Order: sequence, then C-alpha cells, then structure tokens
Amino acid sequence: MVVLGVESSCDETGVALVQADDGSERLPRLLAHALHSQIAMHQAFGGVVPELASRDHIRRVLPLTQTVLQQAQCALQAVDVVAYTRGPGLAGALLVGAGVACAMGAALGKPVLGVHHLEGHLLSPFLSADPPQFPFVALLVSGGHTQLMRVDSVGRYQMLGESIDDAAGEAFDKSAKLMGLDYPGGPLLARLAEAGDPKAFALPRPLLHSGNLDFSFAGLKTAVLVRSQKMLAAARAVQFTDLPLQSQRDLAASTQAAIVEVLLKKSLAALQTTGLRRLVVAGGVGANASLRQALNAACDQRGVRVHYPELHLCTDNGAMIAMAAAMRLQSAQQEASTAYAFDVKPRWPLDAL
Ligand code: KG4
Ligand code: ZN
Repeated sequence: MVVLGVESSCDETGVALVQADDGSERLPRLLAHALHSQIAMHQAFGGVVPELASRDHIRRVLPLTQTVLQQAQCALQAVDVVAYTRGPGLAGALLVGAGVACAMGAALGKPVLGVHHLEGHLLSPFLSADPPQFPFVALLVSGGHTQLMRVDSVGRYQMLGESIDDAAGEAFDKSAKLMGLDYPGGPLLARLAEAGDPKAFALPRPLLHSGNLDFSFAGLKTAVLVRSQKMLAAARAVQFTDLPLQSQRDLAASTQAAIVEVLLKKSLAALQTTGLRRLVVAGGVGANASLRQALNAACDQRGVRVHYPELHLCTDNGAMIAMAAAMRLQSAQQEASTAYAFDVKPRWPLDAL
C-alpha cells in the first residue's frame, strides 16, 4: 500500500510517500518527501499571515507532489490512499491540503484519510532509524501545543497534562520577538543562548511545583519582557539589540533554561506517574539541543530510553502525515473513505480521536 501524505496546517507545505506492507508487522517506510517552508515570506510580518499561507500552499502543493512521485519513481496511479492534515491548524491553510487531497482521491478513484497533525508529530519518531516501541510517554512540543500523553498504541492516547496558556514554542517565539529576533524565533533564540549564562537571570518556572502535569508559559514571557525593559533602562538603550551582546546572550540562555527545566521536570514526573520507561519527544521544540541534552542526561541516569524524530522531521512535514495515516490503516484504527466530502478541524484535541 502506497500512501501519499499532504501537510498544509500552517507555514510549511509538505508532501510525502510511504509504503506499508499489508498484513505485516513491519513499520511503513518513507519513499520520498518534499517540503516548502514559507518562513521567508512571513518574516517580513513577524509571524504567519493566514491568508498568505493559504495562497502559497495552493502554489506549492501540486509541484511538490510531482517532485515526490519523481523521487520515488512512482506513478500517481500507484498511490493507494491520499492522506491530508485535517486539523488542528489554520482553517484556510488546512482547506487547501484537504481540497487537493480529496480532488486527487476522487480523480484517481482512491480513498482519502484525514489525519490529526499532532498524531503525525507523535508518530514521526517511527520514521527514525531507532523507532520506539509502545507504550511510552510522549512530550509533544510544537508551536501551538505543549502536551504530555500516555501512548499505548496507535490511536490510544491519554492526556496527562498540557499547557493552560502559551505553548513552549510560543514562549520561545514571543521571547525571541522581544529580543529583536526574526520569526520563528525559537531556533534563533537557541543560537543566541549558546554563549550565554543560563543562570544570569532568575526567571520563573511556572507550575513547576503544581503537583500535576500541566504547563503555563505566559508568565515567563511577561517576566522576560519586564527583565529586558529593566536592562534597557539601565543601559539607556532603546532596542534590545543595542544592549551588550553578552547581556543579550545571557537573557536568551536564562529564558531557554527556564523552558527546558519545566519540560524536563514534568516529563520525568510523567514517567514516574505512569511507571513507563520510554519517552518520545516530538514537535518543533524537540529540535532544541539544550532540551535534548537535558532529557538525554536525566533519562540516561534513570535507565529511560528517549526517542526523537530525525532532526529534519521535528518541524512540520508531509512524511509524518503519510506515516500516521499508514500506521492507522495498518493497525485497523481507521478505514480510508471514498466519500470525498471533507471538512477540516482548526481546533481538535488529540485525545478526542
Ligand atoms: O511543530 P512545529 O514545526 O509547528 C507546529 O506544529 O506548531 O513547531 C514550530 C515551533 C516554533 O515555535 C519554533 O520556534 C520551534 O518549534 N522550534 C524551536 C527550535 N526549532 C523549532 N524552538 C527552540 N529551539 C529550536 N531549535
Ligand atoms: Zn506541527
């Protein structure tokens, strides 16, 4: 079975092909994937402009489909199922992927399947050379979501805790914006933090001792704002980038340390509560080197295995959508449909699947 996957929930257009062996226990494998990132286009506006995102997905999705078919030397008619991101995400952007996928399915006479974007992230480590085994605790850290889940098998997800306000990715991005960094600021803040002192500024670790597995990052962003205003006043500077470079690095490092410590401690608490010995980290923030270092060291000490997606598959891509569809079909969690009457779900809790 060949599955074509289309991702268009936000600012990346991703298309991929995976092959799954029917009736086999073997994991589906990636045949080809192609991606177009809209980051350069949105940078001028300091964030994603939904209307521009939708229009760009329209321009990119068919050429990317041709690219993956060529790469895999696969004819369009050989595709058995067309999968697309059904939600959560930007409504207009989702509609592009859903519309194109259902039109392709209808033209080919092949069934289609709408996939949950976060399930795509969650299952993306199964595309790596060292795939996890069920059950595991998943730390999902994307731009819009921060969640800890218990994962028993494909489709069996139990929410353990989540952010009650901003996601960790938002804390990275909003703090980075205050520091005069481009969108999306997470990776740029991480780079600025490299030569900084993570203990230079005492920033809050919200809900660290709350006794549950929920997160809150909105207060951290405010603390970064207050701290940077104090630094500007003391230095009689107007812009953050006018401050001495070391001060900029120190605030970036202190911000990153606060986010990483909360993610680490809550992940360890989730492992302890569930008694599970395996952690899967997925979503864009999972690319953060400092987070990986902290998780690896702490899990090593406790004999816990940590799994990540390949670095280039941490952020949004079509491979994870094709993979999630293939794994759902393989595990008989769902059947693909030939109804072609599609809708999208801009808001869609993962544990409602
Ligand atoms: O999963 P993703 O690509 O998109 C969503 O589904 O939201 O995640 C994007 C998020 C952004 O907030 C981005 O700043 C963050 O992941 N991110 C990082 C790093 N790479 C991406 N944050 C911190 N360090 C990184 N290296
Ligand atoms: Zn994502």
